[in-house]
Amino acid sequence: MLKRIVKPKATLQGVIKKLHLNSDRKDKIKLDLNENLMGCSLKVIEALKKVTYDEISMYPEYDTFINKLASYLNLETNNLILTNGADEALRVIMDTYLDKSDEIIIPIPTFYIFESYSEIIGAKKKFVYYNNDLSFPVENILEKINDNTKMITIVNPNNPTGTLVERQDIIRILEKAKNSIVLIDEAYFQFSNKSCRDLINSYNNLIIVQTFSKGFGLAGVRLGYIISNEDVIQNLKKIVLPFEVNVLSIIAGSAALDDLDFVDHYVNLVRGNRNYLLAELNKIGVRTYPSDANFIVANFGEKLDVVFKELNGKNILVNNVSSLPLLEGCLRIAVGTKNQMETLVNEIKDVLN
Ligand SMILES: Cc1ncc(COP(=O)(O)O)c(C=O)c1O
Repeated sequence: MLKRIVKPKATLQGVIKKLHLNSDRKDKIKLDLNENLMGCSLKVIEALKKVTYDEISMYPEYDTFINKLASYLNLETNNLILTNGADEALRVIMDTYLDKSDEIIIPIPTFYIFESYSEIIGAKKKFVYYNNDLSFPVENILEKINDNTKMITIVNPNNPTGTLVERQDIIRILEKAKNSIVLIDEAYFQFSNKSCRDLINSYNNLIIVQTFSKGFGLAGVRLGYIISNEDVIQNLKKIVLPFEVNVLSIIAGSAALDDLDFVDHYVNLVRGNRNYLLAELNKIGVRTYPSDANFIVANFGEKLDVVFKELNGKNILVNNVSSLPLLEGCLRIAVGTKNQMETLVNEIKDVLN
């Protein structure tokens, strides 16, 4: 059912302030926002250079691109909606299915948007803590699900922990929460090579969000999409704007889909450099956690402030997540090129020695 969008009680800006986003990132090593540090496919740049007057001056058409995206994902076109980034997708879904006082289960720590949009809507947040080893707290979530549960959010792999949610655990949640929306954010699915999108026709309560920002390296372009069964997609289309996504995003996304080798190459690079970074940090006694994404979490304990400050001073930006539950003393660090990782490791060694 479509729900009325309630007047904001909280602002996004307040929540975003807490995220300590860096405003001047030029010429710095940007390991703070989990972007693609290899850039994007050259084909994307070439396609954008060839943009025509007609393409710019007319409203965009989406059919050809949606066909291409559907075949990449092995889905039907009526299982998809394009959005202005995954952020926008998550907002559309929460605005559509969540009303004031509805209950939403949010495993934490996780991507800030679920908490902030719930606050804006006025929904009742039921937080479930991740386990101490940052594994997914499936039993505690199952216990919390009841007749009042309207939505459950799962980020897989999770941001900021980097940890994976097992498919079997997701299925148990889908089975138990038959009357709730199970919203899975798969922004980092290319790094784990795991997705639940093949389940959309088996579970009518499942909605998945993916993005071109990470594996494809198009964060600046703002292109995301929603995946679900046809009924849910039809329902969501009632509130998605007809020209939600601009023509340059479509041109860039289409060229990115023509160069899947680029994504494979980047994913392999991330895996290699992630192993290098984890091993080097472990060698010097820094605790880390397993990651299936293009970033890791490292625990510097009481040395956190000094490490964070020194890295900043050396123009290496990382994300200080130490105020989040379970992450005291931790930095979230994006995996970049071998050069960037070596520079980072050397700086950390200098500070800790
Ligand atoms: C889990 C998660 N979902 C969504 C997003 C936002 O994606 P987009 O750039 O497509 O809005 C991010 C960005 O960091 C993310 O970590």
